[in-house]
Amino acid sequence: MEVALKIWRYDASTGQRALKPYEVDVSDEATLLDTLDVVKDKVDGTLAYRKSCRMMICGSCGMRMDGRAILACKERMKPIVDSGHVPVISSMGNMPIIKDLVVEMDPFWKKVRDVKPWLDPGYDEASEKERVVSQQQMNVIAKESLCIMCGCCVSECNAMEADPDFRGPAALAKGMRFVGDPRDNIEVERLNELNDEHGIWDCTRCYFCNERCPKGVDPRDAIAKLGAESVKHDITWDLGAKHAKWFITSTKTTGWLRETELVPKTQGILGALKETKFALALARRGKVPPPGPIHVAADVDEARALYNLVKEQGRDGAAGIVQGERGLARIEHVEAEKAHEEAAGDGSA
Ligand code: SF4
Ligand code: SF4
Ligand code: FES
Repeated sequence: MEVALKIWRYDASTGQRALKPYEVDVSDEATLLDTLDVVKDKVDGTLAYRKSCRMMICGSCGMRMDGRAILACKERMKPIVDSGHVPVISSMGNMPIIKDLVVEMDPFWKKVRDVKPWLDPGYDEASEKERVVSQQQMNVIAKESLCIMCGCCVSECNAMEADPDFRGPAALAKGMRFVGDPRDNIEVERLNELNDEHGIWDCTRCYFCNERCPKGVDPRDAIAKLGAESVKHDITWDLGAKHAKWFITSTKTTGWLRETELVPKTQGILGALKETKFALALARRGKVPPPGPIHVAADVDEARALYNLVKEQGRDGAAGIVQGERGLARIEHVEAEKAHEEAAGDGSA
């Protein structure tokens, strides 16, 4: 089939950027990566992009198609050709471009290294026996373990656009992969570090990372798990954690969010006083609810019952964060397979 595409070419040494059109003949099964290979082989050998495995496991070929981050080896070209669309290919966002579709990933790797991406079991000498960990224990980090470090989530992260020092979804998902691992013994130390100035509470919850991750890691869910684990371990010195805690207290006691008290409960009395001017401006526009009497929702018992259920089930911390559908489907598949094997085993006995 004949594929037309446009590629943003960039040369860091000259600073020149240009959108160039290409047309090549590829097989019907061709991915974007196959198409780029043909462009490089037959049209312009100077085109630069990264690749290695060609099968969605090495994470090298992250780039953007029509403004959204993708893995080039995962995108089939046939449906795009059939629709008559000419896609625009560019480098990933939030990372400086070195050449064409190749970005500087050093800051990305530094952030990953900063979360200590290795197990620290808390002892120097390994025990004689192996340490068995159940599937159920590992389910908490089933999705985070799938990360291939492609950077697609970082490319789309709103918080990183505003603050390049934000740890970012990939590093934080990696952080959760070790915080949630039952074999790791420095969980509290890790959580304290991840609560720092550019840490978990700076995420704007835009969910773009979940949407763009090609492997179903759902980094935003990982960040939510880190927040829940922090509250569980009473690591609540950050304003974001205080804010989250007040949400829980407020909904548990009245069934709704008491916004008037949100600022003093989160920032303290002194912090709240500093916001007086802003509060008065809101009040003048009728945007501040009256301080009293405290409104209690008619169905407050439902909110309390939910709170109590979570406590009874021991679902505070990461266990209380609802997993994305893809992650759940995978876990259900593994469990169904196990049940099937057990049933087959019973039959043969
Ligand atoms: S949800 Fe948070 S981490 Fe994910 S892309 Fe948005 S701001 Fe970044
Ligand atoms: S979380 Fe997903 S998008 Fe982000 S680096 Fe890992 S695999 Fe790539
Ligand atoms: S080439 Fe390895 S993920 Fe695409």
